[in-house]
Amino acid sequence: MKILTILGARPQFIKAGSVSREIAKHKEIEEIIVHTGQHYDANMSDIFFQEMQIPKPDYFLGIGGKSHGAMTGQMIEKIEEVCLKEKPDWIMVYGDTNSTLAGAIVASKLHVKLAHIEAGLRSFNMNMPEEINRILTDRVSNILFCPTDTAVQNLKNEGFDTFTCKVVKSGDVMQDGALFYKEFAKKPSCDIQNDFILCTIHRAENTDDEQRLRAIFEALEEIAQEKQIILPLHPRTKKILENLDLNFQNLTIIDPVGYLEMVWLIDHSSLVMTDSGGLQKEAYFFSKPCITLRDETEWIELVTCKANTLVGADKNKILEAYKTRSSFDSTNSSLDLYGGGKASEMIIKELLK
Ligand code: UD1
Ligand code: UDP
Repeated sequence: MKILTILGARPQFIKAGSVSREIAKHKEIEEIIVHTGQHYDANMSDIFFQEMQIPKPDYFLGIGGKSHGAMTGQMIEKIEEVCLKEKPDWIMVYGDTNSTLAGAIVASKLHVKLAHIEAGLRSFNMNMPEEINRILTDRVSNILFCPTDTAVQNLKNEGFDTFTCKVVKSGDVMQDGALFYKEFAKKPSCDIQNDFILCTIHRAENTDDEQRLRAIFEALEEIAQEKQIILPLHPRTKKILENLDLNFQNLTIIDPVGYLEMVWLIDHSSLVMTDSGGLQKEAYFFSKPCITLRDETEWIELVTCKANTLVGADKNKILEAYKTRSSFDSTNSSLDLYGGGKASEMIIKELLK
């Protein structure tokens, strides 16, 4: 069986780490990896391939740093060429980025079977590019691997029961990675105090809205006066901050880190504040409370069990949540929300059926 895997952005490399490890156990599967180039800085891309020992991409398309239309369009053209040459049995896509959508469109046009890992998630916010990418990808997928019960239910609500596709609850491949790579965690070299908050901000709805970005940074700066905040800064956010006269002298801003340093930071932090999708779950995997700087989340089960507090970009709500969200309710750790680290195994078994 030949699988053409489409990767492009940081969270996809992390997810692919676990699935590629599983694929390597099966001699009957050949994986061809296409890296679209959506993320291209060494610490947004290469480091994950090295640290997580993901096979070197067979194709690097070099399409990054463009508008949504240009990026997605050029990816479609190039992935189509690769697909015609390689003639895979499956195209496999992850998550909800522009690289995901490009892979999905090629598969559906060329009648190659499409497997979507992390299917069925919804924020119900149609202004998010990710929501569009997810909905369109899900609709043309032949097999949809859902990380959670909520994701399965979302698909049922949209009528997927009546479509000619297969919906499988696989669990979350990110949990596979968190469990596997934990023992390889590496302390970053920056100045780290005993008690610190780990923060990431990169989502377009925050970075591209000056009012939201200001409110978030004002709140963070106030919190950082009493507790260290370590913020590995995504290049999108960095570029935007350079043009704003914001005060963030108390924040410990560092370059994006690799996954092994990230795992160390999550594991040693006392609180996670983020607008990342992946990090909300990783906080939970490492039993850390999480404050999410978004108005909605795809990982609603974490809000329901109170492991995660949604605060949007409202300065007062952020400060209030910081004062009240200081510990993780350990009863939550026993909940099996994400499959317990067996998702990659289930996905490959299912594809081999
Ligand atoms: C993308 C995904 C988002 C995901 C995020 C993970 C889409 C629509 N968005 O957002 O869902 O959460 O990746 O991190 O696919 N840049 C660099 N160096 C890099 C990568 C990006 O400088 O290595 C710059 C680009 O030039 C661009 C900006 O960052 O100007 C945004 O990059 P882009 O890939 O468009 O979107 P992300 O915000 O990274
Ligand atoms: N991550 C990382 N280094 C960083 C910031 C994030 O390794 O400097 C990891 C993080 O732990 C998670 C993944 O990147 O596994 C999430 O990616 P991101 O926040 O970029 O995207 P999202 O999950 O929001 O799509």
